[in-house]
Amino acid sequence: MQSIRVTGGKPLSGSVTVVGAKNSGLKLMAAALLAPGVTTIRNMPDIADVDIMSEVIGGLGAVVRREDHALIIDATHIGSYEAPYEMVSKMRASIIVLGPLLGRLGRARVAMPGGCNIGSRKIDLHLRGLAQLGVEITSGHGYIEASAPYGMHGATIVLDFPSVGATENLLMAGAAAQGTTIIENAAREPEIQDLIQFLIGMGARIEGAGTSTVIVEGVSSFTPVDHAVVGDRIEAGTFLAAAALCGGPVTVHGVEPEHLELVLAKIAAAGAEVTTGPNSVTVRRTGPLRPVDVATLPYPGFPTDMQPQFMALMAVADGTSVITENVFESRFMFADELGRMGADVTIEGHRALIRGVAGLSGAPVKSPDLRGGAALVLAGLVADGTTTVGDIHHILRGYEAFVDKLAALGADISLIDEDDE
Ligand code: EPZ
Repeated sequence: MQSIRVTGGKPLSGSVTVVGAKNSGLKLMAAALLAPGVTTIRNMPDIADVDIMSEVIGGLGAVVRREDHALIIDATHIGSYEAPYEMVSKMRASIIVLGPLLGRLGRARVAMPGGCNIGSRKIDLHLRGLAQLGVEITSGHGYIEASAPYGMHGATIVLDFPSVGATENLLMAGAAAQGTTIIENAAREPEIQDLIQFLIGMGARIEGAGTSTVIVEGVSSFTPVDHAVVGDRIEAGTFLAAAALCGGPVTVHGVEPEHLELVLAKIAAAGAEVTTGPNSVTVRRTGPLRPVDVATLPYPGFPTDMQPQFMALMAVADGTSVITENVFESRFMFADELGRMGADVTIEGHRALIRGVAGLSGAPVKSPDLRGGAALVLAGLVADGTTTVGDIHHILRGYEAFVDKLAALGADISLIDEDDE
């Protein structure tokens, strides 16, 4: 078992470059199933989740190989329409093959994704929307059986909630349906916009990227594409939060600042100095950290994936702040671990009250999920003494070279094998 050991108190400074967004790249890999031929996806992070998705689409017949940060996907022969339980249970994002399989083969059999540490992660909006496109859906024995033997037809779908995953599955299914599909209350995240650009590159006809109303004119075939994944705004935000915690200055390259607008505004409100370039952001802090309230919302609201990192920042602010988590129903799991380091956090439903403390103290903690784990590492950067973060497979599945990048910025941090202890 591996852990991350970090000793606090070191200033961070320098530059770091983020790679393509995990939460776009995984979906582009699924979308590649729509086009017979060889698709190239560049700027793809080298993380475990990408390896799992490679296995998922490989199991469907795609041939995937990595060349540094590019994935070459030959989707000429897609012979299977089943994403088995052992794959989906490893990564719930595998559900995203539903739409492209229906578009390519008119059939899909996908294991139901489980919940995870941040909530139930339902897929009712995916399934209701697909049914409106004419897909027949049954479920049993832990699987979803979806079929559109006569093809799919366009529809107007109004999402109860701007679900990222539901928008993505419905975009990919609608792109291959006959006629026009309108998705109202669609998700607007940069990763959605990236998927829409990718699909347009394959020959899809889609308008309204980045707005709540997306209009898709179905087409009958797709061609392979060569596309670079949009920079990972959450990886970038994680390093910028670390800079605000430790002082900086830290410059993050490879991200579009407007994808982090509200995060940067909140980091500035907390007392840091934020400057931006065309594809970079610099953060430094010389004065005290001020308490700032945050409420997570779908994009362009404050991203839920930055909530734990921001809580680590507020844990040592000069005062009390409130964080409201509006997207997932239980995304405060890591607050208990942060409490083991001396943070003063009170959870009341979907609100967390954070009373800033003078300092945190290093302690052994466990990563409950991807972003909570990253937040615990950030807390360790400013804690007095040494923090050991366990269960770091959560972190390594979503952050490429996380420890190396923080060490290059000056952190006293290393990966340790507990058997070596
Ligand atoms: C994506 O998850 C991301 N994951 C999440 O990032 C991110 O937090 C989330 O979008 C919101 O931005 C990937 O892209 C792989 P949703 P997704 O569908 O698509 C409810 C990370 O750390 N809902 O927008 O699952 C759902 O229960 C991960 O990188 C339904 O009720 O998010 C949740 O409460 C964590 N019914 C809320 O909507 C549905 O059919 C948001 O879910 C679908 C969703």
